[in-house]
Amino acid sequence: MTIGQQENARLRWIMLNSSEAVVDDGVDIIQGLQENPKTLPCRYFYDDRGSQLFEQITDLPEYYPTRTEQSILATHALEIAQLTGSCELVELGSGSSRKTRILLEAYNTVHQELQYCPIDVSAGILKTTALELLCSYPRLKLCGLAGTYEQALAQLPARELENRMLIFLGSTIGNLNTQECDRFLSRIQQALKPGEFFLLGVDLQKDIAIVEAAYNDAQGITAEFNLNILNHLNWRFQGNFNLHQFEHRAFYNPIEHQIEMHLRSLEPQIAKLEALDFQVAFDAGETIHTEISRKFHLPTLLELLEAHALKPLQTWTDPNAWFGLILCQRQCVGVECP
Ligand code: SAH
Ligand code: AVI
Repeated sequence: MTIGQQENARLRWIMLNSSEAVVDDGVDIIQGLQENPKTLPCRYFYDDRGSQLFEQITDLPEYYPTRTEQSILATHALEIAQLTGSCELVELGSGSSRKTRILLEAYNTVHQELQYCPIDVSAGILKTTALELLCSYPRLKLCGLAGTYEQALAQLPARELENRMLIFLGSTIGNLNTQECDRFLSRIQQALKPGEFFLLGVDLQKDIAIVEAAYNDAQGITAEFNLNILNHLNWRFQGNFNLHQFEHRAFYNPIEHQIEMHLRSLEPQIAKLEALDFQVAFDAGETIHTEISRKFHLPTLLELLEAHALKPLQTWTDPNAWFGLILCQRQCVGVECP
C-alpha cells in the first residue's frame, strides 16, 4: 500500500493504493461475472461519468431520498452540532458533499474549528468538491481520501481534533447486503473511540410504487447510470461491452425489502475485458445484478446499531417517515470500560 500525500496549509490528499485512484486488479469483477446469476460490485458505477449521473439522479422528481434527507438535515443540523460538541467530520462515500454542506454550516456556526475528511472511491468528484469546499469555508481544513470504505476505515488519518464523527448519508448503507453491513458496522465501531459519533442516513420502508418509481425515472437517467457500469469496465479494463445490447431493470423485492437493479442482455453475446484476459458469454435475457438498495425497518436497524456498540442517541425523520437520520454514540465494550 503506497500513500501519496500532498500538503498545503488547509488541504491534504491521501490516495490509497495509487497516485490517482484506487488500483483494482479486477478479481471481484471476474468472480461476479462467473457467478450464476452474474453480479458486479456496485462501486463500479462510480467513475467520473457515474458520479455525474448520480448527481443528476438526486435532482429527479421521482428520486425522493436526497431531498428528504436534505430537509431533515436542514431542520436538525444545529442540534447535531450541539449534541456532538466540536469534532472532525469524516464522511464515507461523500460524492459531491452537497448535503454535508448543511452540516459544515452548522459546525462552522457552533464551533471554533472546522475539519472535514471526505472519503470516496471516485477520485474526480472528490477532488473537485474538496476545492469548492475550501473556497466556501475559509476556516475549513480538509483531508480528502480516495479509496474504498474498507481501505479508508483501516487507515484513517490521525485525529486533528479530539473527537470525530463518522458520517454515512444517502442510505448508501442500503447498498450493502446484510453480511457486508455487519462487517461495515464492525469497522465503524473499530474506527471510533468510545464517546465518538456516527451519523447515518437511511431510506425507510414505504409504499412500493413510490420506491420503484425512484429507480425507474421517466427521463431514463437511472437506466443510464446502471448501464454506465459497463462503460466504466470498458475503459478501465479495455472491455468491449456493447451498452446497446443491455437494458435497465429495477424492481422491488418485497421479501428482502430492497430495490434490485439488473442489466438484461437483449441477445446472446460475448464480451471481453482485455486487461483482465477474461471473456464472458450471455444468453438472451440473462441478467447481471448490479445493485441492491435496501429499505429499512427503523426499530430493527436501531437494534443492529446497538449490537455494534453504536448507541442511537437521537433519530429524526421527515413528516412522512420516508427517511431516517440516526445519531449514534460509540459505547465502550469489554476492557475499554472503566
Ligand atoms: N453521500 C452522497 C453520495 C452517495 S452516492 C449522498 O448522500 O448523496 C455513493 C457514493 O459513495 C459515491 O460518491 C460513490 O463514489 C461512493 N462509493 C460507492 N462505493 C464505495 C466504496 N466501496 N468505497 C468508497 N466510496 C464508495
Ligand atoms: C448511493 N445509493 C444510496 C443510491 C441508491 O438509491 O441506492 C444509488 C442509486 N442507484 C440508483 N439510483 C440511485
